[in-house]
Amino acid sequence: MAVITVTINDELVSGREGQSLLELVREQGIDLPTLCHLDGLEERGGCRLCMVEMAPGNRLAAACVTPAQEGMVIYTHSERLVKYRRMILELLFAERNHVCAVCVMNGRCELQYEAYTIGMDHVRYDYLTPDLPMDASHDRFVIDHNRCILCTRCVRVCDSVEGAHTWDVMGRGVNCRVITDLNQPWGTSQSCTSCGKCVQVCPTGALHAKGSTVAEMVKRHDFLQWILDGRENHQWTMRNGEPMESGR
Ligand code: FES
Repeated sequence: MAVITVTINDELVSGREGQSLLELVREQGIDLPTLCHLDGLEERGGCRLCMVEMAPGNRLAAACVTPAQEGMVIYTHSERLVKYRRMILELLFAERNHVCAVCVMNGRCELQYEAYTIGMDHVRYDYLTPDLPMDASHDRFVIDHNRCILCTRCVRVCDSVEGAHTWDVMGRGVNCRVITDLNQPWGTSQSCTSCGKCVQVCPTGALHAKGSTVAEMVKRHDFLQWILDGRENHQWTMRNGEPMESGR
């Protein structure tokens, strides 16, 4: 893979052709906030928190879906970017009912973490306070639409890793919802395998284990890379009763 040179925050760095700007920026130890991105899932470029400024022209681009290219000049934490990131976070909080004090993910929520990190101490927009339901019809899990930020990690992991495609997105704008099967109660879904991958990748308390109480839910993302590595190494593919070796 060809080596490229990119200027990040006025410093020349080396990267690999084909890698995303997000990957390259993070390799330099720069903390670029993300919500829809999760290592191991295909990118969506939806939350826009990872936006960077590209010179000349100060064009904005989502780093997770922008390939790094030779000669690029980018800035990751300009005043304008920080202002926009804070606006995005405030709008997310205003759009649904994120009441951290009574959330199962309080203290471990990625949305809450990003808001703290950027110093968001209040929301300047009118709260929409929508009347959204919870679905606790599944035996083990709950979806609370009040906490959902529509990052679609659940949709992507269910589709591309579990292969069930139970989750999808319905509606437009503020009426968007994640749904199971044909917008039916989760507990009646015939495609759901109850694997729990969607719950583990959810960045907020929207998807959680039944019975969790405030600040009790712990989610682990490391299973994802373990599964992807195992598949690549044919770890669970048997031939004549033996695991197949890598690459054969
Ligand atoms: Fe890049 Fe969400 S992480 S747009």
